[in-house]
Amino acid sequence: MSDSPSDRSQRRRDGRELTYSEYIHVPALLRAQRLPEEIPRGRSRDEWPERPSVADPSVEGGQRPWREGDRWPNEWPHDELLFIVTHQTFELWFRQLLHDLDDVMHTAQQIVSEHGGHIPPADLLAREPESAPALRDSLARYPRTAKVIDEQLSQHPWERAFAQQLHEPACFPARDSALCGAVSLAWFDDATLDRFAQRVGRAGQIIRHATGAFAILETMPPESFLSFRSRLDPASGFGSTQFREVEMLIGLKDVHRARLAATGELSFRRHMPQEELDRMEQRMREPSLRDLLYALLNARELRGDDAHLSDLADTAMSENLKTLHSDFESARMRWGDAQDVESALHNQWRNTDEILQHAENVQLAHMYRSERTRPALRALFERTLELDQALTAWRNVHIAMVERVIGARPGTGGGGLQYLRKTLIYRRAAPCLWEFRSTLLR
Ligand code: HEM
Repeated sequence: MSDSPSDRSQRRRDGRELTYSEYIHVPALLRAQRLPEEIPRGRSRDEWPERPSVADPSVEGGQRPWREGDRWPNEWPHDELLFIVTHQTFELWFRQLLHDLDDVMHTAQQIVSEHGGHIPPADLLAREPESAPALRDSLARYPRTAKVIDEQLSQHPWERAFAQQLHEPACFPARDSALCGAVSLAWFDDATLDRFAQRVGRAGQIIRHATGAFAILETMPPESFLSFRSRLDPASGFGSTQFREVEMLIGLKDVHRARLAATGELSFRRHMPQEELDRMEQRMREPSLRDLLYALLNARELRGDDAHLSDLADTAMSENLKTLHSDFESARMRWGDAQDVESALHNQWRNTDEILQHAENVQLAHMYRSERTRPALRALFERTLELDQALTAWRNVHIAMVERVIGARPGTGGGGLQYLRKTLIYRRAAPCLWEFRSTLLR
């Protein structure tokens, strides 16, 4: 549509010119700070605040009932507005996160399907370290590793024992897994990868920014929260469907699968309406950012043939064994043969062994020191790491805020501090981006 100066002045005369308030939908936003009018099931009238009357000279009698969009009534707890506004702000940011991350995943899926492929699930739970084949049975394929074991790790009984317990590097995912060679890096040009990195980077920034809002919520004294807290029960941030969608979209699906099926205390069925449960089921079926990254790290050109992957794994394993050996020597020189030294060293060995079982970690250890790695790909990895980091910081700040406001009381959703602390351990979109750093080669 043309927008000449005369059109504009005509619109101004008609009073139709766009206002800030219309474009941003301010009235709709301001109508949203309210208490539900209907008394929820299981609540009595005494527990639910009345809608007070509001002075309005334009109506007969000068008083009318409070309606949405009016100022927060003095009769309602003062800090309840802050509580509602803070949650609403988070929900708006979650919406933006979904918008950005959905764009990444839709574009990636489109590109892959144009080439007749699909992004398979990166089923990390299926990778059990105990099922990894022993390295000693396939040592012939890893000549540099065999040499280090033979020449450097045969002098001390502990080292000999550790070396015996090693597993085949890069054995996950299995060579016939759908993840191997599912995509080609050539399908993703730099502009596309840059856009992915920019979107994922923005998601991390949003979380980092939104986390600051917890400090504002902390200005609410605990007794003030208690004055309206019982009203929320059993509603809780636990039932934030958008937060769950963000988690699932980045790859944190495993724990949610059980929560979708369950019906008890901390289950989604208890906390979400059917329409939102349907959205969660849909997310469960769609590929996640984790799936995309794991597919990229198992791309055809990175994996090459079996010999190529074994060669990369051999370098990663042999160099890490050399480092472990020199760490081992200096620890023993300093501390001797004490049992706790053995157990500390054993943990270090086991950790390296488990990390190198994943082909993605082997690839990353090489890619981060190779000048040939595409900067756009590396930027995508780094932005994803930052997104994980921002989400972990979000969880930590939320936990500290919860403790400050309600102490160790049970949460309205049926959890509490103990539950929240557990969520810290298994929540990483792309564990490989963290793991490989312990085995990065110089
Ligand atoms: C006074 C403020 C708050 C308190 C006391 C509080 C308390 C809690 C508690 C105890 C839980 C564990 C589940 C439960 O039993 O309810 C929880 C979970 C959660 N809260 Fe809050 N919260 C507060 C503010 C917020 C805000 C502003 C958000 C922003 C959206 C939020 C988002 C969440 C989310 C997403 C979970 C689920 C975490 C997970 O399962 O990983 N909370 N909260």
